[in-house]
Amino acid sequence: TLKLVVIGGGSSYTPEIIEGVLKRHHQLPFTEIVLVDIEEGKEKVTIIAELAKRMIKEARNNINVCWTLDLEHALQDADFVTTQIRVGGLDARERDERIPLSHGFIGQETNGAGGILKAFRTIPVMIQIAEAVHRICPQAWMINFTNPAGIITEALLQHSPHKKVIGVCNIPYHMKQSAAEILEVDAAQVSLEFIGLNHFVFGRCVQINGIDYTEELTKKLDDNHVTYSPANIIQLDWSQSFIRNMKLIPNPYHQYYYQTRDMLATEWRAYENGETRAKAVKQLEKQLFSIYKDPALTKKPEQLEERGGAFYSEVACRLMDSLYNNRKDIQTVNTLNNGAIKELPDNAVIEINCKITKNGPNPVAIGSLPAAVKGDILQMKAFEELVIAAGISGNYQQAYQAFLANPLIKDEKRTKALLDEMLAANLKELPQF
Ligand code: G6P
Ligand code: MN
Ligand code: MN
Repeated sequence: TLKLVVIGGGSSYTPEIIEGVLKRHHQLPFTEIVLVDIEEGKEKVTIIAELAKRMIKEARNNINVCWTLDLEHALQDADFVTTQIRVGGLDARERDERIPLSHGFIGQETNGAGGILKAFRTIPVMIQIAEAVHRICPQAWMINFTNPAGIITEALLQHSPHKKVIGVCNIPYHMKQSAAEILEVDAAQVSLEFIGLNHFVFGRCVQINGIDYTEELTKKLDDNHVTYSPANIIQLDWSQSFIRNMKLIPNPYHQYYYQTRDMLATEWRAYENGETRAKAVKQLEKQLFSIYKDPALTKKPEQLEERGGAFYSEVACRLMDSLYNNRKDIQTVNTLNNGAIKELPDNAVIEINCKITKNGPNPVAIGSLPAAVKGDILQMKAFEELVIAAGISGNYQQAYQAFLANPLIKDEKRTKALLDEMLAANLKELPQF
């Protein structure tokens, strides 16, 4: 038997992972999938499980699917555990987006103050899950999508007994796909180095079949060939001078850091009209679940592509495939640095190309950080360390330091009010504070 447990199985994204599993069944022969959710997610997970059954039947497969609210029971004999939870749901996300904006700061679910609170809510829950995994199925790989994915993965690797944890994100995957599209080749022929942290990762040195195409890509990344941006992020585009002079490919989240004023202005206009991404996602979810309920639906609907995490299953399934089959191919994941970036400690989690073996990811060494972004990456990692410390301890001083250290906050006069309002708004989900 080969068993997959999806924690947060009621997520509207789950049909993707079902599709990914079915597509790869000949090489990654899952026999059992268990969708786990909590009481509040019961209705959603039932709908997803029914859809999953129809998808499996349509594919003439006989993988056994079920759902449960009993995590510990679900974990028995699991081989892979994926985690895609949202503590506090979309209501909490809406607060993460709105409160910072009301104080004049970027409001985003994984960046700035919103990302910090998301981490604070999520760390205690994910540690509990990792402890259960370690106790019940210690051999299982835990593949974490839960945001902020890099921070959560580091918190687990440092503070939970389970060490088989890998963090993933669809951003590097899409950056590579988009480089391939721009260069008009197949993504399988392209290699792209990734340097940095989750949602703060840069691409460097594009090669096609071993030949450097960085110049070519840089030239083409002009206004006609914009870089990929997922549905959830406003796209303001990059100037040619940025790409050419940095000699690095930014990810869409970098706009918050290197175009802060323009991003803030754009977010502010939406905020004044009462619009947030959380609200849009709520709408989209409603629509998706009414589609999922249709007994005639037997495959993943196209509308799912309007979610920012579209195609995350490609990342998850490719990773599980390589772990299971010891493929030793290169994939971009969040894992321990272990010397890959000279300036960072071994136990820091970074987003990096790794050779994926049955024993886990082996980072391909980068060496020293590029001078142009060395300070920014070190600052972000120092900030993440503070978030993890505060998320574990519930210590107010550490939380304050984390807020002030964030490049999107850094405003002594306004930090305390922002922090206090956000802590108060989330108290129900912050047992550690
Ligand atoms: C991107 C990020 C994910 C994030 C998603 C949000 O793909 O990599 O980490 O969860 O966007 O999308 P949403 O549709 O929820 O706004
Ligand atoms: Mn087994
Ligand atoms: Mn991500």
